[in-house]
Amino acid sequence: MASTIGRRLEGKVALITGAASGIGELTARLFSKHGAKVMIADIQDDLGKKVCQDLGQTSASFVHCDVTNEVDVETAVNTTVAKYGKLDIMHNNAGIGGIENPNILKNEKSKFEKVLSVNLVGPFLGAKHAARVMIPNRSGTIITTASICSTIGGVASHAYTSSKHGALGLTRNIAVELGKYGIRVNCVSPYLVATSLVKDFFESDDERCDGVYSNLKGVVLKPEDVAEAVLFLASDESKYVSGHNLVVDGGFTIVNPKFCIFE
Ligand SMILES: NC(=O)c1ccc[n+]([C@@H]2O[C@H](COP(=O)([O-])OP(=O)(O)OC[C@H]3O[C@@H](n4cnc5c(N)ncnc54)[C@H](O)[C@@H]3O)[C@@H](O)[C@H]2O)c1
Repeated sequence: MASTIGRRLEGKVALITGAASGIGELTARLFSKHGAKVMIADIQDDLGKKVCQDLGQTSASFVHCDVTNEVDVETAVNTTVAKYGKLDIMHNNAGIGGIENPNILKNEKSKFEKVLSVNLVGPFLGAKHAARVMIPNRSGTIITTASICSTIGGVASHAYTSSKHGALGLTRNIAVELGKYGIRVNCVSPYLVATSLVKDFFESDDERCDGVYSNLKGVVLKPEDVAEAVLFLASDESKYVSGHNLVVDGGFTIVNPKFCIFE
């Protein structure tokens, strides 16, 4: 029998959207390593099923889920409860970059709405249906992958920045409502990580992916590092943390390097 020492999610059940690749995939792998049963929800069925296979049939399952579709999200939550008996951790992670040209005059309304639909309506639906099953149990943790774009402007498109500011506002509002049920609601806000989402935005060898603009030097942010932050918010080690935005950015958002007294 595997040792349970250091397994921080033993006995927990997690549903992770956008877990077929990138941050969500690494979070699914880390959660599973820490003893959680994981439901992987994504629109990329083949990739999602591949992650499940790696984790093993008893530890992980896949459900097709487009987070913009309420029936899909409702079904993903119901499937998780039917398969594993409960839902302890909802990780609203699915997201898209969506708009290539930042120029507002070139931004189409439909593309703006698409980004909002995945990055903001998705977490709303995830939180709503997670709350539906968590409230009767008087426990649970809801985590949304936001971004440094939840707190600053100018590093991504209007749509993306709006969606991530919205995700933070949503997190705080839901945390206020669900606190009385013992449900914690937080978000994690990473700096750039070289996943497919970012590679669609920037060239893969773009220096912005190497953290050159971060205050902290000598470290490059990896999806594994974001997964560790999500693990903290998912585990009982953060039992008094709610309504929080856990920024994982090497100090990128705390200083304007062009106006700084330190060399
Ligand atoms: N990569 C970064 O630099 C970075 C930084 C900050 C925040 N984020 C956020 O992290 C999250 C994960 O992104 P990533 O970087 O791992 O990118 P990724 O492209 O590797 O993963 C995103 C996943 O979401 C899925 N997805 C997209 N639309 C979906 C939908 N409608 N329904 C269900 N699943 C859908 C994709 O299939 C994919 O598996 C996103 O919310 C993103 O905004 C990323």
